[in-house]
Amino acid sequence: MTLASNIAVLLPLCLYILHTHQQPQQLVISACCGTTAANCLNYSNAEDLFGLSCCGTRPINQFEEICCNNVARKRRQGNKYYEQCCGDQVLGYDETCCSNVVHRIANQQCCGNQTFNMYDQRKLCCDGVLSEIPEGKIGACCGSRAFDGGVNQFCCAGSVSNRSTSDSCCMRFRANETDPIAGQPYNSATHFCCDTPFPIAGNQACCYVRRTGGDADPLDKPMVYDTTRQCCSFPFKQPMPKPANNDCSTVGLV
Ligand SMILES: *[C@@H]1O[C@H](CO)[C@@H](O)[C@H](O)[C@H]1NC(C)=O
Ligand SMILES: *[C@@H]1O[C@H](CO)[C@@H](O)[C@H](O)[C@H]1NC(C)=O
Ligand SMILES: *[C@@H]1O[C@H](CO)[C@@H](O)[C@H](O)[C@H]1NC(C)=O
Ligand SMILES: *[C@@H]1O[C@H](CO)[C@@H](O)[C@H](O)[C@H]1NC(C)=O
Repeated sequence: MTLASNIAVLLPLCLYILHTHQQPQQLVISACCGTTAANCLNYSNAEDLFGLSCCGTRPINQFEEICCNNVARKRRQGNKYYEQCCGDQVLGYDETCCSNVVHRIANQQCCGNQTFNMYDQRKLCCDGVLSEIPEGKIGACCGSRAFDGGVNQFCCAGSVSNRSTSDSCCMRFRANETDPIAGQPYNSATHFCCDTPFPIAGNQACCYVRRTGGDADPLDKPMVYDTTRQCCSFPFKQPMPKPANNDCSTVGLV
């Protein structure tokens, strides 16, 4: 018979199981942060439990280690003492944490996981992407890219093109409001927009096919059709074959 008395105490994040060893008088305290022996550390003095906590499934002493995203890191490293985390890394007071990436420079602004100086006029952060503005140029955001604000460049749905080659933006058809917004720049002198830009050719046009059969809807689906052979007419369900009399106004009424 052993005098064994197993006491389980649930502390914040930490389970301590105290029990006696086979040999009388010797106390073994297992501090566990999980269900297997590998998640436990043994102590013989109750004082050693001071500062103990769980880091993931590992017991750590909070004064010696800091738990960063369930990874235990030494607080004292060289002449530094760490009190903050950045992702699973330690973060010093002379460092900047941007989206879990440590930068060895203090008091910077974050752009995604990169740093920049907010007073630097030549740096522009667009949707978490850092861009460099050329000397003497103006910077504006076009989605996540930088462009010159419209001086020589054209912005269309996050894509930047040369203004001399594009003056219009062709928005992509979206099946519903959750579909991502997308578009392509085009030159309205040479192309027309019908979901994507198409070269202007004699017989081609765009038919907005109604989804509901009701009034025009911004989500009507654009379809290219051949005006010599087809009509884009009520009820706008699809381009219809052109009647023998070539009169599109009579299509769908019969
Ligand atoms: C802790 O003590 C228990 C019970 O004596 C033993 O089974 C276990 O192997 C020990 N664990 C470590 C990490 O020493
Ligand atoms: C920083 O973010 C970019 C873009 O999201 C990613 O590709 C890159 O891997 C990240 N860098 C680090 C060090 O996490
Ligand atoms: C835009 O096009 C013009 C004329 O083709 C050219 O001179 C200019 O370098 C282009 N600019 C850019 C930013 O590509
Ligand atoms: C929106 O349309 C996309 C593409 O057709 C579809 O996968 C998605 O389930 C739709 N979402 C809703 C909320 O209707």
